[in-house]
Amino acid sequence: VMISGAPASGKGTQCRMIVEKYGLVHISTGDLLRAEVSSGTDIGKKAKEYMDNGMLVPDQVVTDMVVSRLSQPDVRERGWLLDGYPRSYAQAQSLESMKIRPDIFILLEVPDDNLIDRCVGRRLDPVTGKIYHVKNFPPENEEISARLTTRSDDTFEKVKSRLETYKQNSEAVIPTYSDLLNQIDGNRPVEVIFHEIESMLQKICTNASEKKLAK
Ligand code: AP5
Repeated sequence: VMISGAPASGKGTQCRMIVEKYGLVHISTGDLLRAEVSSGTDIGKKAKEYMDNGMLVPDQVVTDMVVSRLSQPDVRERGWLLDGYPRSYAQAQSLESMKIRPDIFILLEVPDDNLIDRCVGRRLDPVTGKIYHVKNFPPENEEISARLTTRSDDTFEKVKSRLETYKQNSEAVIPTYSDLLNQIDGNRPVEVIFHEIESMLQKICTNASEKKLAK
C-alpha cells in the first residue's frame, strides 16, 4: 500500500490504524530520516538541512533507505505500507525500474488552512509513537502530556515551505499510479477516513483470495 498527501494530511495517523488491523510493515521515510538525524549518522547530518528547510532530501539518499528496508524478511512476509514515498518523479521511477508497485495508491486530501493548524498543534509521544493534537486529539492524561514532543519542522514558516514543496512535487508522482489512485477526503473524522480505507483494502484482500482459489 502507498499512502500520500500533504504535510499533516493524516498519513501517519491512518498508517497506525492500518498496521494494527492488517499487520503491514510501516515504512515512513520521514520517520526513517528523523531516526538518522537523532542518531547523528552521516545520512542524518546530510538530511537535517533539507528537512529543516522543508525541502526534499536528495532522491538517492531516500531511495537507498527505502530499498534496503523493502528487502528485509518481515516486509516480504507481511507486505509493506509506504508512507511519504515516492515523493518525486525520480523516486517513483526508481521503484518502477525495480518492478515494485503497490496494489493501491491512497491520496489524502485536506484544505491548506487545516493542514497548517494540524502541523502547528501536533504533538508526539516518544514512548508509544502515538500522534496527538493539542486541540483535536489531546493526550489522555498528565503523564503522557508531560512527555509529548514537538517536531522541529512543525513551525508556521516551515510548514508553509513544506506545503509548497509538496505542491511542486506531488503532481509528478501521481501519473505513475493513476490506475491505482484512490483519492480520499481527509477532512473528516479519523474513524470515518479509516472506514473508507478499510473497505478499499478489504476489496484488495478479497480479489487476492479469489485469484488464489482460481489457480
Ligand atoms: P514526513 O515526516 O513524511 O512529513 P510530512 O509528509 O510533512 O507529513 P507529516 O508527518 O507532517 O504528516 P502526516 O500526514 O503523517 O499527518 P499526521 O498523521 O501526523 O517528512 C518530513 C520531511 O522528511 C520532509 O519535509 C522531507 O524533508 C523529508 N522527507 C520525507 N520523505 C521524503 C521523501 N520521500 N523524499 C525526500 N524527502 C523526504 O497528522 C498531523 C496532525 O493532524 C496530528 O496532530 C493529528 O493528530 C492530526 N490529524 C490527523 N488526522 C486528522 C483528522 N482526520 N482530523 C483532524 N486532525 C487530524
